Amino acid sequence: MSRQHTLHKMVSSQRFTLGKWGEPERVRQLLPVEAYTTASWLERENRSLFSRNWAFAGMTEDLKRPGDYLCVDGGDSAIVVIRDPSGRLQAFHNVCRHRGARLLEGTGHIEGNVLTCFYHKWTYSLADNFKLIGVPHEQAVFSELDKSCHALHPAKVATWMNLVFVHPDPNARDLDDWLTEIPDLLGPFEPEQTRLHDPEQLVETLDIVYRVKANWKIVTENFIDGYHLPLLHAQTLADGDFSRQCWLDAAPHQAMYRPIKPDSSREEAYIGYYDDQPWPPIEGVPESYGASYQWLFPNIGLFQTATSWSTFHVLPVEPALSLVQIRIRAVPIADMPPVRIADPEELPDHVVSAKGCCLPQYDPSSLRSDVHPLKSGDVQLEDTYACESIQRAMRSRQFQVGTLSNWEAPVAFFQQQILDCMPSDG
Ligand code: FES
Ligand SMILES: [Fe+2]
Repeated sequence: MSRQHTLHKMVSSQRFTLGKWGEPERVRQLLPVEAYTTASWLERENRSLFSRNWAFAGMTEDLKRPGDYLCVDGGDSAIVVIRDPSGRLQAFHNVCRHRGARLLEGTGHIEGNVLTCFYHKWTYSLADNFKLIGVPHEQAVFSELDKSCHALHPAKVATWMNLVFVHPDPNARDLDDWLTEIPDLLGPFEPEQTRLHDPEQLVETLDIVYRVKANWKIVTENFIDGYHLPLLHAQTLADGDFSRQCWLDAAPHQAMYRPIKPDSSREEAYIGYYDDQPWPPIEGVPESYGASYQWLFPNIGLFQTATSWSTFHVLPVEPALSLVQIRIRAVPIADMPPVRIADPEELPDHVVSAKGCCLPQYDPSSLRSDVHPLKSGDVQLEDTYACESIQRAMRSRQFQVGTLSNWEAPVAFFQQQILDCMPSDG
């Protein structure tokens, strides 16, 4: 059924527009090739970007019970977020105050109110600001040790919706400040939309980690590039009305909404099916909702559709290697399928891990496919192919980025944010 497609005044106003970032003199490649290919750039980013920004750590549900913890490695810091005995989230640097061992790895749970280093068993209080409270053989082996000076170094933790963020500096500016106006840019985007996406009302259906052989900025730029969408994804995103995509800068972040075509009733690419049944739309969100994102600088995207809310987290590993963790949430349904963790043996090379209850297109057996990525019908595989292609092309001495379109203004804006964070002395 055809429908006249109008947009909510929020996005049809001048406010949600390319604005000055659509001006041709601004829309150009700002970063040199070395920014995508060299270890020295990644080191500078680790120092100047990832160590000085709020970093996405996970979801509040990852830290449900007192004693649950998760480790976050970003830039030059290693941080642990833990739910303390009183139920509050706390964060500290993952560095023992004795010889500096990493205290914890990955995710897990600590019983009791103390944390003991595996090495020489120094013990810290989880209930009292991570103070050092136990030192084996203290009288015999230390001539003087002021335990009050050896608490674990604190970091800062804060939440927004169900998202947990950490900052290495305990005196960093508040998360709310850093988010700028992003919380006001979540919609509504359609006249029929009566509620905003609320991730806390949804349940996680998939958590998948991809390996992409490309620099983290190539992966990011691909995510926010509005020009490739109707072209690289001509079949997979055929319902999208890219001529009406709306974008807004909210420095250092950015936000976008893109509707579906007037003669489409829903976007097939993002529906998700279980037992041949389409996943239901989120309450208050019309089925005709297209797609929106908010890119939180530097490396975490939030993405919404009629049936889902997800995070797209890009993690640099090496100059030409990134991990992308996608976590998708949807409306809980009756007879929710059980969560499965894919056997690593089942997974193809480009998938590091996959767990979740469903979305058949992510079934591990279907991830194993010999079909060319550009014929896979999978948006993520198409994107990965494009990112790896660009990275490989950068080896050529002839490589050069040509003229950018104004649908690539988000890319130029992102690059400007990078440059603004990097000291010019290198
Ligand atoms: S390094 Fe932790 S107790 Fe020695
Ligand atoms: Fe894409």
